Amino acid sequence: MALKVEPILPHFGAECSGLDLTKPLSAEELKEVTDAMDKWGVTVWRNTGLTDEQHVEFSRNFGYLERVPKRPDGQKMRLPYRELFDASNLNLEGEITTDPAAVEYRKGDRLWHTDSAFLEKRTSYSLLLAHITPPPGVGGETWFADTRTAYDDLSQEMKDRIEGLVSINSLWWSRKKAGADVSEEEILERPLARHPIVHTHKGSGRKAIFIAAHTMDIEGMEGPEGRQLIEDLIAHITQDKYTFKVAWNPGDMVIWDNLCTMHRGAEYDYTAYKRDMRRTTVREGTEPHTMDTGDDPYTALFARSPKAVDINSARDAGR
Ligand code: OGA
Ligand code: MN
Repeated sequence: MALKVEPILPHFGAECSGLDLTKPLSAEELKEVTDAMDKWGVTVWRNTGLTDEQHVEFSRNFGYLERVPKRPDGQKMRLPYRELFDASNLNLEGEITTDPAAVEYRKGDRLWHTDSAFLEKRTSYSLLLAHITPPPGVGGETWFADTRTAYDDLSQEMKDRIEGLVSINSLWWSRKKAGADVSEEEILERPLARHPIVHTHKGSGRKAIFIAAHTMDIEGMEGPEGRQLIEDLIAHITQDKYTFKVAWNPGDMVIWDNLCTMHRGAEYDYTAYKRDMRRTTVREGTEPHTMDTGDDPYTALFARSPKAVDINSARDAGR
């Protein structure tokens, strides 16, 4: 069956149907999916019927999947595969978490960002699958923004200004912006990643802005000037005309290409409603079905979390 594609905005986002993602796809079907991703940046797949295992298996078609930090021996994980990032508001028992570090950590997802911009090795696709969603009308949607069309529409002066600039990114900067008690000094002691602010998106040949809530500074610019530019660019990219939101039902999956989009979770009352979302995360430039890359950046990064947002140690303490 052929892929059906219905655009959401004229140049960005599409609802896709007509493929059964629970079964292995043919080479032609896979190409239809990557072509749709290259063109639309975000694809929405309703009622997929995917299990955790099928979610991981389908995701491997797009490259190596990053893994969540290793748990100390014998410690329980909520999700059955290290390839599943837990974007839920639940604790290990599947109840709404009251762990302040976990709540603080998740707040960062409500700021406009691109996944893993705080790592040197960027993420191409994220594939987020809904398992439990809040009832309709109470929030908890996910917003997406088009960083290619936003780039196209910049003035020539702004394009010239940002060409060749390099950003400095930290996971903990986004958590600080969301209210976590982490000092700038603490952030600078931890891993930082540098990325060009403008790059050419491989699949489409279009230029895109690459920036995130993790973007702390711009190399060579003194604090306030760089930070203002970061804020101005995010405000430009996230104007109504470049954005849409997806409302979720269980079974829905959204694939976004972090190299040509930004996203953020919408507000909802996380103390009142369970929201169980699970994400696979593809490393840029890796071959399909790569099972090992010999490194483990998330374990390395979380080994050095500031306490205020250290999910591992909070869970270790049995909270
Ligand atoms: C993510 C993310 C937002 C949401 O999983 O990367 O930012 O709406 N999620 O759950
Ligand atoms: Mn995210």
